[in-house]
Amino acid sequence: MKSIAETLKQRLAATPTVGVIGLGYVGLPLAVAFAESGATVIGVDVDPARVARVRAGESFVEDVPASTLARLVTAKSLTATDDIAALKDADAILICVPTPLGKSKEPDISYIVSAADAIARVIHGGQLVVLESTTYPGTTQEILLPRFEARGLRAGEDFFLAFSPERIDPGNRRYTLREIPKVVGGLTPACRELTMTLYARVARQVVPVSGPETAEMVKLFENTFRSVNIALVNEFAIMCRRLGLSVWEVIGAAATKPFGFMPFYPGPGLGGHCLPSDPHYLSWRVRLEGYEPRFIAFADEINRQMPTYVVQLITDALNERGRSVRGARILVLGVAYKANVADTRDSPAIEILQTLLAKGAAVAYHDPFVPLLPLDRTTLESIAWGDAELAGRDVVLVLTPHEGYDWAAIVREAPLVVDTRNATAGVPPAPHVIRL
Ligand SMILES: NC(=O)c1ccc[n+]([C@@H]2O[C@H](COP(=O)([O-])OP(=O)(O)OC[C@H]3O[C@@H](n4cnc5c(N)ncnc54)[C@H](O)[C@@H]3O)[C@@H](O)[C@H]2O)c1
Repeated sequence: MKSIAETLKQRLAATPTVGVIGLGYVGLPLAVAFAESGATVIGVDVDPARVARVRAGESFVEDVPASTLARLVTAKSLTATDDIAALKDADAILICVPTPLGKSKEPDISYIVSAADAIARVIHGGQLVVLESTTYPGTTQEILLPRFEARGLRAGEDFFLAFSPERIDPGNRRYTLREIPKVVGGLTPACRELTMTLYARVARQVVPVSGPETAEMVKLFENTFRSVNIALVNEFAIMCRRLGLSVWEVIGAAATKPFGFMPFYPGPGLGGHCLPSDPHYLSWRVRLEGYEPRFIAFADEINRQMPTYVVQLITDALNERGRSVRGARILVLGVAYKANVADTRDSPAIEILQTLLAKGAAVAYHDPFVPLLPLDRTTLESIAWGDAELAGRDVVLVLTPHEGYDWAAIVREAPLVVDTRNATAGVPPAPHVIRL
């Protein structure tokens, strides 16, 4: 007679039912990828508006074309619900819920806890559960495992448990979900093998590691690596300005070294759900072991000061022209945290716009992806490009270099451009173009 693991492995390799909890930037593309692989996918989300949109075949994630989503929904390969009970017959359940920070930068794993509690109500033998949300080492073992074992199930024998970090880069067309190797840490060898079988459906390469804690740490290392290197290059931008050098030219030349160097680029500050938060998950965890990490805190300090630095650049540029921020007509181009996405979570644009407004500037913004931007005291609406009135602005501030802007025309028409992204790189240097 076949073991539970052998039976499940066959199902995962053939035509499994896959449940995805959390249909956001991570969960929706994953749900689509599994549906495209021939699995039957059930998406579960606590947000009824999201569920309704998926059911209507409406995509709210740039990387998921509405036509693909609509096709899969019509074919019933992908369904959406707010009822966790729909997952009782799922072969695999993937958790893709948010992992934000609490008020004092401590991990807020309440979404993982409530997803785990919900799964515990439906879990039974023969199922695989994989946590994908970024979190501190130990979460899978300490938070998920006891809740499922309390149902009288044995991990690695009756049910299977793993951590596999999501590593997608929204808006990146070169490295899509399929192209990004999937790291897998199973609680037991059987958990690992089953999880590898599952992800082989959607990823070209699956990378096993020794356990869930290692897989959890891999993701935190990747994001801490980015945060620290971005902080380093942000500080280089500040140092280059002091020395009258272009940081962009320095990076470009350094990047010609074929080994031992990897280019990172400065900007107006970190944004998104991941980079500003994830390293703090690690700090919090190792602090419990009596160790105070230094790189993470230092990188955070530098990155968090970038919005203030950008406001200072604008203030100085206006001052040189005998103007003040108060009363200045400022047009901001791009408020999403990065190019070609609609995500404004933790976008540095929010702090920059709020500060400029508080200083009395008349601020408008244009972002083809973000129609509305809620701020502390007001909500701004993206202007139509026809109302940009570039020549009539005191400053055009480039925060996010979405595709489609005609940078040469912007530089030609605007009296002063502050470019925090080197978006105007293709335009010859001019005294009225200030690059970070
Ligand atoms: N956004 C990214 O680029 C990215 C990349 C890699 C990893 N991650 C990680 O993936 C995780 C998810 O991030 P995201 O950007 O997709 O978040 P998101 O906010 O876009 O989506 C999360 C979804 O989960 C739903 N949800 C919350 N609690 C739930 C519950 N108990 N049951 C069912 N649904 C629930 C929310 O309603 C939301 O729709 C986070 O841990 C994040 O750090 C994000």
